Formats: sequence, structure tokens, C-alpha cells
Amino acid sequence: MEKNIIRAIKGTKDILPDQSKKWQDLESSFRNFIQAYGYREIRTPAFEKTELFERGVGEGTDIVTKEMYTWEDRNGKSLTLKPELTAPVVRAYIQNNLVGESPLTKLYYFDSLFRRERPQKGRQRQFHQFGIEAIGSPYPECDAEVVASAYLFLSGLGLSELTLKLNSIGSKKSRKNYCDALIEFLNPFKNQLSELSQKRLSANPVRILDTKISHEIEILKDAPVIYDFLSEDDKTHFIEVMDLLDGLNIPYTRDNHLVRGLDYYCRTTFEITSEVLGGQDALCGGGRYDNLVELLGGKPTPAIGFAAGVERIMIALNEKTPQSENFECDIYVITMLRDSIKTGMIVANQLRQSGFRVEMDSLRRSMKSQLREANKMRAKYTAILGEEELKNKKITIKEMGTGDQKTIEIDSILSFFQK
Ligand code: HAM
Repeated sequence: MEKNIIRAIKGTKDILPDQSKKWQDLESSFRNFIQAYGYREIRTPAFEKTELFERGVGEGTDIVTKEMYTWEDRNGKSLTLKPELTAPVVRAYIQNNLVGESPLTKLYYFDSLFRRERPQKGRQRQFHQFGIEAIGSPYPECDAEVVASAYLFLSGLGLSELTLKLNSIGSKKSRKNYCDALIEFLNPFKNQLSELSQKRLSANPVRILDTKISHEIEILKDAPVIYDFLSEDDKTHFIEVMDLLDGLNIPYTRDNHLVRGLDYYCRTTFEITSEVLGGQDALCGGGRYDNLVELLGGKPTPAIGFAAGVERIMIALNEKTPQSENFECDIYVITMLRDSIKTGMIVANQLRQSGFRVEMDSLRRSMKSQLREANKMRAKYTAILGEEELKNKKITIKEMGTGDQKTIEIDSILSFFQK
């Protein structure tokens, strides 16, 4: 390897041409899928005021305490590359008064995010998400539609080893009571907990439920369950969500430990995981966030959404069906002389403008290597401009499959291919 080359930053990845076709396909299938539910696209800036995430995502969360790319701008303002999209979308919703357009605002996105996490398979420092935010409805049918759409989209991609985990974490008040009970339960085990969990015990105890450490999982088996702390309204809401999902035949597993790592959630939380991913198995996560609009300065407005990680979906898809795409061309224009280059370029452009995929050599290779290249690209035809052709304003068309060839007037090339 050359000594002086500049490499990409750790935790970032190039999406090379043999992968980008899959990205395009995923993006367009998501657009088609979600537009059928009435969602419209929103695009927000790459960076925002740091305060948006501190207030929106929560000061005690991992994202805000240790994962944000934050810097002080020249005028002293603190700015942050967006680590997630719910807070920016809600900011844009409030700022642009989208509520004025309709009482229920349905937005979708496909975007790039930044979190300074420890890179590993399925975990990057720049990654991509697509997702939706439905802002305006407090009702369980909205939860069920959002959860179902996430599951149906992912399963529609052919990812079959999916698990949809569902929970309700209730209102802030029920969560406070639950936290107190959890602290009381965990205190006697404090010395057996990891350093991280000990910190969480005082800062944000419900996050301990996320632990992957086996003896902590064992301890937590007898821990109090959040469902028992939900208010009657929260329980009714959750039961209705489950009933609607049952009606839609969406298979889910109730997971009392699913609390999610962002502070804005209340009531319904969910994640979709895939067995093929190993450690970083969450393909998608989401939930209800009824207090966020108000927290960011808007009128109290209930909302729910999800976001799915594109890199993780790509890993899951590649494990299923490795596939790459090469450029395939319809017509390869072969120029045999310097003088034929200009005519070749004009012909190639006319054909492209009529919708054909056309390649023309710009390396001044020999006729033989141009033909070899045309074969490699699986060109259906070659259009050859030799000396004779040029002199007589003609062009020779060779059908690569059969070897049949025909010399025609250059001016008639479009009608030749369009017939
Ligand atoms: P999240 O769980 O932080 O939720 O992220 C959603 C998904 O993004 C994850 O399930 C994962 O697939 C992917 N993801 C997260 N971090 C990384 C990373 N470092 N590398 C690769 N993929 C990653 C949110 O972001 C919420 N805003 C979702 C939401 C929308 N809730 C309501 N509306």
C-alpha cells in the first residue's frame, strides 16, 4: 500500500458502485412503500444547534453525553452534526408551522447521521437511516400503523429472520414510579453490577434493562416489570395497539425490557431485530414521543415514528443474497480514427437522449480492445465508425448476440434503434 494515501475516517465507509445499486433499490422501494401510506419527504440540514439534541434527545443519554460530533462555530455557537432525525424533524415541524397544513403530519426521510460510537460490524460513525414521523395523533391506530409499516417494509425486503419487540413504557409519571422500584430492587446487587450499570443506576436506571452482560440479565429476571406500573389509560392504549396488530397479523413479542436509548419516548416502544446481525441486531427502532413537540417549544402534540439503519439492512440482505451490479450497455460506439471521435460523441449523445445506455471509448484504445470492452459490458450492439463509414456518412451496427451486421446512414441511427 502506498505510504501517503489519505484514508477514510474510522467508522465511515465508501459505498462503492457494486453496492450502490442496492442502496438505490432500497431507497426507491421505501419511497414507493411509504408514499402509499400518505407520507411525504422531509429533508433537514446536516447540522443543528447542539441545544436541539440536548433538549430533545436528553442530556443523560449516551448520544448526548458521549457520541455527538459537536464543535464551537467561529461565532461561539455550539453546533452538532445530527445524530438522529426525530428532533430535527420536530424542530422543522414547529418552525415551519406544518400543523397549519393538516392536523396529522406524516413525514418520511432517508438521510445520513453521525454518532461517535465504537465502530464494529453494523455500527458506524456516519451511518444512514430511513424512517417516518407521524405527528398529531394520540390514538392506538396511529401506533399500530407505524409499527406495522416498519415490519411490513422490512419483511417485504425478504428479511425473514425478523423479531418485532414491543413494549409500553407509559407516561413520565409511571416511569418515575417504575424507576424508583427498579433502584430499590437493584441496590442490593449494586456491587455485582458493571461500572456502566452502576453509573446508570443513579443517572438513568431503566437503561440497565438494555444490558448484554449475562449475570446482569440473570439478576434482572426477578426485577419489577414496567407494565405493572402503567396507568389504566396507558394499559388500555397498549392493549388496543396489540389488538390492532393482531388484526393485521403482525407477529410481535412483548419485551418488558425494551426501553430505548433516547429520552423522548413514552407509551409504545418497539424494535425490529434480525438474527443474522449478531451484536448490533437492531434493524429498526421507534416509539411514541408525545412530549417532544412541546419540549421543543411547540404546542403539546402527540407523535410516533421509527427509523431503520440502512447499513444493517444491507448486511442482512447481503448475507441472504450477495449481489453486485455492473453497468450494462445497450450500444457501444466504436471509433477507429481520431477523426471519428467527434461524430461518435454526437451519435452517442443522440442515442442517450433517446433513452439508450451508451458507452464510448475515451482511452483511444484499439478496435480490438474496444470490442473486448463492449463484450465485457454485455453491450447488445456495437456501432462502428471506421474510415469508410466516416467518408460515406454511414455507421456499421453489429448485433453482438448473433454477429449480424449492417451498415446504415448515420442520420437514420435513431430510427434504426427505435423501430
Ligand atoms: P435509534 O434506535 O437510535 O433510533 O436508531 C434507529 C436505527 O438506526 C437502529 O435500529 C440502527 O439500525 C440504526 N443505527 C443507530 N446507530 C447506528 C450506528 N452507529 N451505525 C449504524 N446504524 C445505526 C433513532 O434514531 C430514533 N430517532 C428513531 C425514531 C424515529 N423514534 C421515533 N421516531
